[in-house]
Amino acid sequence: MSAPAAPRTRVTLGALAAKKGAGEPLVMVTAYDYPSAQIAEAAGVDLVLVGDSAAMTVLGYDSTVPVTIDEMLMLTKAVRRGLAAPLLVGDLPFGSYEASDALALETAQRFIKEAGCDLVKIERGGTTVNRARALVQAGIPVVGHVGLTPQTATALGGYHAQGRTAEAALAVIDDALALQDAGCAMLVIEAVPSEVTAALVPLLDIPVIGIGAGVAADGQVLVFHDLLGLYDGGAAKFVKRYADMRSAAIDGVERYASEVRERVYPAAEHGYAMPEDEAARLKGLLAGR
Ligand code: KIV
Repeated sequence: MSAPAAPRTRVTLGALAAKKGAGEPLVMVTAYDYPSAQIAEAAGVDLVLVGDSAAMTVLGYDSTVPVTIDEMLMLTKAVRRGLAAPLLVGDLPFGSYEASDALALETAQRFIKEAGCDLVKIERGGTTVNRARALVQAGIPVVGHVGLTPQTATALGGYHAQGRTAEAALAVIDDALALQDAGCAMLVIEAVPSEVTAALVPLLDIPVIGIGAGVAADGQVLVFHDLLGLYDGGAAKFVKRYADMRSAAIDGVERYASEVRERVYPAAEHGYAMPEDEAARLKGLLAGR
């Protein structure tokens, strides 16, 4: 038997900056509960995001918009319990931060204080830049999110790649620069042409984590259910499946069902036995009734 792996040291923002400086890619994955957090921990990722993609992958909503603060907090707390080393990023859901700095602060503090997040993520440039600045000034590390921002996908014309013209690319780059200027510790850039990321990264000091944004990003993030093939839904073009867990899970449950139906499961080794003398005594007690 191999010795248990030594506990990893906790990832810090400084460690991530050092990796970026050394040109070492950062790895982020989403997780939504205790087992997925344990898997991310065991796989040695740098960052775990409890994304509001949970709305679709875990809660079955048809977009990320309906998920509530309380739903996100419950999932985030479960992930916290399963994580030790990676930095934990909480995703503030739609409607929980946009209206004012005070609202953003109140929500972000709940993610830090109640769910144990290290950072919070908020979407878009525009007014979100002010929200990011307010959170950073209050001592909360912030991850910005530019490019395709699913919370406002309707306003963007749907779930389409962003920044496909020079002007649109410049708008994405300007959002990113404004978020860095506001004090964001990191950015996620989603669904933009690789050229946009390649142009952006040299302009920024903070790490840029890409998803559907090409190889020039300082790191990559994928949704847990997408990369493991757990989700029965269409995957975006940028998703690469590294496993087919859904088929494996269906196969497992089907085999269980047929073994129950055929009385193959449970076998003797899956049950508890009574000492023979106690079984005999029980028989006697029943007979004497
Ligand atoms: O909610 C999420 O999972 C995300 C990632 C796709 C970056 O925002």
